[in-house]
Amino acid sequence: MSANVSVDFITHTFKGQSAPTLKDIALNIHPGEQVALIGRSGCGKSTLLHMLAGLTVPTEGCVHIRGHTVTRPSAKWNMMFQKPSLYPWMTVRRNAELGLLFAGCRDTARIDALLELVGLADKADANVQSLSGGQQQRVALARSLATSPELLLLDEPFSALDAFTRATLQDEVSRIARQEGLTLVIVTHDIDEAVAMADRVLIMAANPGRIAGEMAIELPAPRERASAEYSRAREALMTTFDGLVGDGRGGAAAQRTDAAGAPQREAA
Ligand SMILES: Nc1ncnc2c1ncn2[C@@H]1O[C@H](COP(=O)(O)OP(=O)(O)O)[C@@H](O)[C@H]1O
Ligand SMILES: [Mg+2]
Repeated sequence: MSANVSVDFITHTFKGQSAPTLKDIALNIHPGEQVALIGRSGCGKSTLLHMLAGLTVPTEGCVHIRGHTVTRPSAKWNMMFQKPSLYPWMTVRRNAELGLLFAGCRDTARIDALLELVGLADKADANVQSLSGGQQQRVALARSLATSPELLLLDEPFSALDAFTRATLQDEVSRIARQEGLTLVIVTHDIDEAVAMADRVLIMAANPGRIAGEMAIELPAPRERASAEYSRAREALMTTFDGLVGDGRGGAAAQRTDAAGAPQREAA
C-alpha cells in the first residue's frame, strides 16, 4: 500500500529565532512516487522531512498522509537516517524485528522474507557489529520495512558509505520501494543520488527554506549510470539547480544568468 502525501502551506520558525526556517511549502506526492529533495546544507531539508515523519510539528500549515493529519510518528511512515542506529548487542534478526516487537507482534516468516529482500538471509544470526556499514544500513532498511510502511523517508541514508556500496543500495532501495509499492522521499545533497533514485526532484533554496523548482527524471529503472540519457538527466538537473539556487562555486543564480553577459566579463 502506498501513501499520497500533501504538504499544505508549511511555514516553520524554530523557537528563539526571528526568521522562518521554512516558508510556504506546498507540495503533493503521488502514491508510489519516488521523490528526492535536494538543496544546500542548512536549507531545511531535514526539517521538512521530520515534518513528514511527524517528528517536528510546523508552526503553520500541516502535512496530510492519505488524508490523515500528521501530528506524531507512526510505523506507517518510517524514517531512515544516515546512521543505522542498531543495537550492537543484538543479532541482525533481532534488530530487524524490533519495529514489529514494539507494535506487539512477532512474525518470523516476514522477517525472513525481509532479510532475503535486503540480501542478508545468510547473516540473520550474525551480530550486527560484525557487519560492514552497507550491511548495517540494510538491517536498518529491513527494520523500517518490517512494519509495512506506506511511506519511507530517507535522510541522506547512504552518505557515510563508499561509492560502490552507495550505488548498489540506491538501486536496491528504489527497486524494493517499487516492488513493495511504497512512496519514497529521499533527502540528499548529492545530485547523482537524486538522478539515480527519483521520479521527480524537488529543489530547495535557503533563507527561508522553500521549494524553488522541480524536475522530472524520466529514466527507466534500474538506472544505467553509464548511459547517455543518464548523463543528460544529470546535466539537466545540475543546470536547473544552478539556475535556481546557484552552483555552490560562488555563482548565485542571478550572477550566473548575467554570465549570459559572459561576454561582458570578457570585455571587462
Ligand atoms: N531544533 C532546531 N532548533 C533551531 N534551529 C534548528 C533546529 N533544527 C534545525 N535548525 C536550523 O534550521 C536550518 C535548517 O536545518 P536542516 O533542516 O537540518 O537543514 P538541511 O537538512 O537542509 O541541512 C539550519 O539553519 C539549522 O541550524
Ligand atoms: Mg539534513
